[in-house]
Parts: sequence; structure tokens; C-alpha cells
Amino acid sequence: MTTSDPDRDGEDTLAAQMPIAIGDQAPGLPAGCELGAPSVVVFHAPHWDPTSIEQARRYAGVSARLAGEPAVAPALVRNDSELAATFGVSGYSAVFVLDAEGRVSWRHVTGLESLSLPVVAAEAVLEDDEGVTLRRSGWTRREFIATALGTAIALALEPTIARTQTLAPTASPRVFAPGEPQPVTLMVNGKRIALTLEPRVTLLDALREYAGLTGSKKGCDHGQCGACTVHIDGRRVLSCLTLAVMARGKPITTIEGLAATAGGGSEALHPMQRAFIEHDGFQCGYCTSGQIMSAVAVLREPWGSSDDDVREAMSGNICRCGAYPGIVAAVQDVRNARG
Ligand code: FES
Ligand code: FES
Repeated sequence: MTTSDPDRDGEDTLAAQMPIAIGDQAPGLPAGCELGAPSVVVFHAPHWDPTSIEQARRYAGVSARLAGEPAVAPALVRNDSELAATFGVSGYSAVFVLDAEGRVSWRHVTGLESLSLPVVAAEAVLEDDEGVTLRRSGWTRREFIATALGTAIALALEPTIARTQTLAPTASPRVFAPGEPQPVTLMVNGKRIALTLEPRVTLLDALREYAGLTGSKKGCDHGQCGACTVHIDGRRVLSCLTLAVMARGKPITTIEGLAATAGGGSEALHPMQRAFIEHDGFQCGYCTSGQIMSAVAVLREPWGSSDDDVREAMSGNICRCGAYPGIVAAVQDVRNARG
């Protein structure tokens, strides 16, 4: 009898799709990009809304620190496009920085859908005093920050397909007043949960305060710690930055339902949960559910297999207890157990 392992199935899919690497020639350029000048290509989820309040807030924070830098405008490409497939990032959020000859000089690929990629990149470089990121890319710190900022500016201004789609007429003629609570049905851990929520309620609050699923933690409530990580459509998402209404109808997995995705019952543990216990991947445990949800997703994402790759892939999940050695060991244990 054969059994299906969703995590392995995800990895098998990715094996056939690896993003082009630093130093590779880009397989094509989107409209507006030409050889002879550096360019930035951003692949985003079709429903991603770069005009969100969170995007604007973070953009303002970065731009305030970088006032006066020149910038390169990015090309925005949906991640369900043909070009996304040729770059090997179908379904992923990604930023590629190309040099004047069209070679990849920096890239960032992630399964996260709700993050503000260029802003994250700019913030990372601002915090990266030792220039670790830039040594890999060949770009100067100044060039890179300017490029990331340019991307952020364009994304903050770009009207989105997503917004148009969201506002398109639906089958229901019912129109809610701004802020009025409305019915929202979430599919959480295989169960339908019917709630009545104001549109501003985050997915994290919907899960914790309305659905009674308190396994996802609120650390910062600003997208900086990763404690609130859940899966939507099998991809890791920061639930504190995701509105509950954006997740309606999509399969959501929280730490409470993770074991079932690996074939376990309600009393069972997911292999990643067992590995965290075996390798002491936690102390107080506050960050742990987010760490585990991220770790499971990382093994489905197009990262390398070294400890450094795991550290980079998990860098959005902060542990104030410093349990990082155990966390990396747990991720590698699960990876190795799969062969
Ligand atoms: Fe969501 Fe910190 S609570 S990232
Ligand atoms: Fe305490 Fe990570 S185990 S914050």
C-alpha cells in the first residue's frame, strides 16, 4: 500500500522547479527591462496587494532612512505567469536583481505571500552591518539599498490586479458598510469555521480570539517575529499581517492541525514537532509553533540544504531564548530522515 506524504509531495514538485541561481543568465526579461542597465524583477502572488497599510508603513520607515538615494524601478510580474515558470518561481514570491548583462546578481525567493519583499530586502541590508548579504551578490551596499528602495517605491504606488479583482462585482448583491461585521467562513485544519468579523480583523486574531485556536502566538503583531506563522494553501504566512477576509475559502493549517497533514491523528505529533523535542529546539516555547510551521514550509521551498541555508530560510522567526542550534538540528534531522 502506498501512502501520500504531503510534505514529500511538495518537495517532489520543487525538485522539478528550482529558481535560477546567482550568476545564471536570466531566461528572459519582462517588458520595460533592457540589457545595458541593472534591473529588478519582482514576482508576486496574483492577489498580493502592495498598497496595503502595512506595506506603506514599512516603506515609509525604510525611505526615511534612505532619503536621497537614487533608485531603479522594478518590473512587477505575477507569479503564475510564463516568465515566472522560466525563472523557476511559479507560485513563489521572489525578487531578482539582474546586472547590466542580464545575469542574476542577487535573489530572494520565499513561499510567503503577504510580505513586502523589496522592503524586507532593504531592511535586511540596513541591519547587515558586516555586509554578509552583499558579499554574495557583488553589489555595493549603496547600489543594493537604492535598488531595493526603488522597488519599494514602485510597489507602493502600483495599482494592483488584486484590488481590481477584489472589488469586482460578486454573486452577492449585499453591500456592507465600511467596518461593518460580515460573515467570514474559514477552512482551518480541514474544518469550516463560520465567524462574523469586522474586515480589519487579522487572521491571527480571528484564530486566537474568535476560533479559540491559541497555538499561533502573537509576538510583535507587526510581521517581525514569525510567532504567528500559519500555512495558507500549504505556504507559510504571517497571520498578523493577513486579514481574515483575505483567507476565506482557502485551506489554512495551524499548529493544532499540523500532525494531520503528515497522516497523524489529533494526538499524534508531526515529525517536525518530534524533532524539535528531540533536539531541544525551544526553551520557553513562545516562538515554537511559528518556528515549526516555518520549518515545515522551508522543506518545501527552493532552499539549499546546508545549515546556513536553514538559518537564512528561518531568519524571519525570532527566538528570544536563543534555541537556534536545536532548531537548525531539528530541521536537518527531518530533512535527512526523508532521504
Ligand atoms: Fe506576526 Fe510577530 S506576531 S510576525
Ligand atoms: Fe523562547 Fe524561542 S523558545 S522565544
